[in-house]
Amino acid sequence: MKAIVYEKYGPPEVLRLKEVEKPIPKDNEVLIKVHAASVNYSDWSFVRGKPFLVRMYQGLLKPKNTILGTDVAVRIEAVGRNIKQFQKGDEVFGDISGCGFGAFSEYVSVPENALALKPASMTFEEAAAVPQAAVVALQGLRNKGQIQPGQKVLINGASGGIGTFAVQIAKSFGAEVTGVCSTRNLDMVRSIGADQVIDYTQEDFTQNEQSYDLILATGGYRSIFDYKHALSPRGIYVCTGGSFAQIYQSMFIGPWISMTGSKKMGNLLMRPSQKDLVFMKELLETGKVVPVIDRRFTLSEVAEAIRHYGEGHARGKVVITVEHERTHS
Ligand SMILES: NC(=O)c1ccc[n+]([C@@H]2O[C@H](COP(=O)([O-])OP(=O)(O)OC[C@H]3O[C@@H](n4cnc5c(N)ncnc54)[C@H](OP(=O)(O)O)[C@@H]3O)[C@@H](O)[C@H]2O)c1
Repeated sequence: MKAIVYEKYGPPEVLRLKEVEKPIPKDNEVLIKVHAASVNYSDWSFVRGKPFLVRMYQGLLKPKNTILGTDVAVRIEAVGRNIKQFQKGDEVFGDISGCGFGAFSEYVSVPENALALKPASMTFEEAAAVPQAAVVALQGLRNKGQIQPGQKVLINGASGGIGTFAVQIAKSFGAEVTGVCSTRNLDMVRSIGADQVIDYTQEDFTQNEQSYDLILATGGYRSIFDYKHALSPRGIYVCTGGSFAQIYQSMFIGPWISMTGSKKMGNLLMRPSQKDLVFMKELLETGKVVPVIDRRFTLSEVAEAIRHYGEGHARGKVVITVEHERTHS
């Protein structure tokens, strides 16, 4: 089968399309035929081995998991003996980062709990855009942010992969949502449901007269003290990513601010969750959440796709379409 493989850290060009052995599922695994995948921050960071800390997981000198890719939308090709939830032919989607990655290939073997049935009305490309970004947004808003109907919620980074889901998920919880993005994305963020939009190139939301009950910063972007200033007295701030300094602030200064005052500040470490994926499936089926796709690439263009993502200005999700050669049986 074909897969995008890398054997050393470096720029995305170290990724090569190769012929590799097709996996055989163990008793507790399903063999999935990948129809679409999508790009996430881990692909950008793991290919380069940066920040250095990721090498503690992915290998100090060379990558341990040689096929990257987290999010998949697939058809089940074969099932191991102990598989209970799915059968051959089912169309499913999932985040396989908890079981060794490998979405940038034609086939992968994974445990069934990494997957959920794909919403029937969605294409594979649409479904592949969902798993990690949507679950980060969901866990940030609901678990850490304790979102409530009627709250004033601000999403900073509203136009990116996580942000476009966060805006729509927050609306589905009945919040009044403000999305922060650049000029070119204002209309798109409004079109996915934001009640207000703020252009970060023109206006500093931390210095206007508004305050928010919940702020989700998808990529950090600002110091924790700016966010503290923009929170209402009992407000909650959740940071899902950003620079080392921003993550450090939310991990170490956030708990100190939370202990010494009424505002709660901290970061989210997302965990893949089948239950949350099923929650998202139901939300997608109601049409309350619709994935925003920035660009589509083919499997042989994965390096280009990751480079495009790494520029930091994707508008929604970057999707990989995996075409399979027709075989005659
Ligand atoms: N916590 C976890 O477990 C977890 C899991 C996965 C990912 N993450 C983190 O989540 C973060 C976001 O991931 P993502 O995939 O959503 O990123 P992304 O898709 O690359 O986000 C790109 C978006 O960020 C916007 N942006 C850039 N600079 C901005 C600024 N100064 N203010 C506001 N928006 C700005 C861009 O809009 P413009 O083009 O308009 O500038 C673009 O739409 C990453 O840092 C990643 O590490 C965390």
